[in-house]
Amino acid sequence: MVSSQPKYELVQEVGRGSYGLVYEAVVKKTGARVAVKKIRCHAPENVELALREFWALSSIQSQHPNVIHLEECILQKDGMVQKMTHGSTSSLYLELVETSLKGEIAFDPRSSYYLWFVMDFCDGGDMNAYLLSRKPNRKTNTSFMLQLSSALAFLHKNQIIHRDLKPDNILISQSRTPTGVPEPTLKVADFGLSKVCSASGLNPEEPVSVNKCFLSTACGTDFYMAPEVWEGHYTAKADIFALGIIIWAMLERITFIDTETKKELLGSYVKQGTEIVPVGEALLENPKMELHIPVKKKSMNASMKQLIKEMLAANPQERPDAFELELRLVKIACKECNWDT
Ligand SMILES: Nc1ncnc2c1ncn2[C@@H]1O[C@H](COP(=O)(O)OP(=O)(O)O)[C@@H](O)[C@H]1O
Ligand SMILES: [Mg+2]
Repeated sequence: MVSSQPKYELVQEVGRGSYGLVYEAVVKKTGARVAVKKIRCHAPENVELALREFWALSSIQSQHPNVIHLEECILQKDGMVQKMTHGSTSSLYLELVETSLKGEIAFDPRSSYYLWFVMDFCDGGDMNAYLLSRKPNRKTNTSFMLQLSSALAFLHKNQIIHRDLKPDNILISQSRTPTGVPEPTLKVADFGLSKVCSASGLNPEEPVSVNKCFLSTACGTDFYMAPEVWEGHYTAKADIFALGIIIWAMLERITFIDTETKKELLGSYVKQGTEIVPVGEALLENPKMELHIPVKKKSMNASMKQLIKEMLAANPQERPDAFELELRLVKIACKECNWDT
């Protein structure tokens, strides 16, 4: 498909990541609001990141309310525009795949190549900004935990390991309830580091369990990285660890200042003298280290404390998988709910 008629109109820039720009946009025909992430494919790293995001989001057959939905992905080379589809044999798409595999640009470097990801627009900012600009609220915390565990169970069921779960990559959509009260819906986003685990070699029909799919590329953001990720031998249990750091920090409002951006971020850590150290890094040095959870008295009940401890176990096999995690959080939430009424 070659088209010169733009389908979307960009409204304003809403985010600037390490690899691309994100805009709020409207669909010209319907007036619907969408987010458009534009990645310039001028370096193999950018192409790899864009393809990872595309492969993960386009491999999901159904939608989940807490996972960002990819409307479409558009490939633009100079004046040419085409919709990108998984497994396409278009030469433009194949040039990108080759670039990513070889680690060097496989097309004329003078041409400008862009990938445009059209997604749901999240009007509530990211989880960091949302929570840190409000007073702590137990109901919001419980709702966020349930939404996140449900999203993770869905992703792992769909063989996707996210690998970069952190509050900046969790976005908020403030849809309104029938009573007009905005209700925050979390959307797990930014699949640039994700990995889709393909079917097991023995039986191609049988999907491989993400908890048995071993990965070796150490990636993620250090404060949320599990100890085994630092070593470069890990599975989907690394996502459970990252979620443990996020939930612990959310319940106790633990933040640190990012040295590069100077931004305050939600994330728990370990104190060593005056230094703050990522929990995963500290556990790698000393797997027997006891984590002081909770830091503040009364910020969580005994079941929650036990669950976070298990999510942050040094040994990934001792961590619950995403399905068990979801069940246990639902149980904890139900108890809290009965207690409230
Ligand atoms: N669907 C969206 N709706 C609204 N804002 C978004 C959306 N996707 C991304 N953003 C904004 O852009 C930022 C960067 O996007 P992200 O996908 O995390 O890219 P990067 O890989 O560059 O970090 C996000 O932190 C967020 O502020
Ligand atoms: Mg990001």
